Amino acid sequence: MLTIQVCVGSSCFLRGSKKIIAEIEKLIAEFQLDDKILLKGCFCHEKCTGGVTVMVGEKLFTGVAPKDVEEMFEQEILPAIKGDTECL
Ligand code: FES
Repeated sequence: MLTIQVCVGSSCFLRGSKKIIAEIEKLIAEFQLDDKILLKGCFCHEKCTGGVTVMVGEKLFTGVAPKDVEEMFEQEILPAIKGDTECL
C-alpha cells in the first residue's frame, strides 16, 4: 500500500490542496487503485513554498500545483506502486 499525503496546512490549502486531492482521487478511481493507495491529508511540513507539499511514500514534493498532478501520478505514483508490488 502506497501512502500519499497532501498537506492541508493553511499555506498549502490556499494554494490548492483541495484541487490536488480531488485530482488524485479521480486518478485513483480511473486506474482502479483504491486497494493500492492510501490518500491522507496532513499538516504543515514546514516546507511551505509557492505550491502544495505532497508526500508520495517517503518522497517529499514541494511547490505542487493542481496542473502537475497528472504528470506526478504517471512519473512518481504509478512507478512507486509497481515497485511496491514487484516483490509480491
Ligand atoms: S502549509 Fe503545507 S508545508 Fe506548510
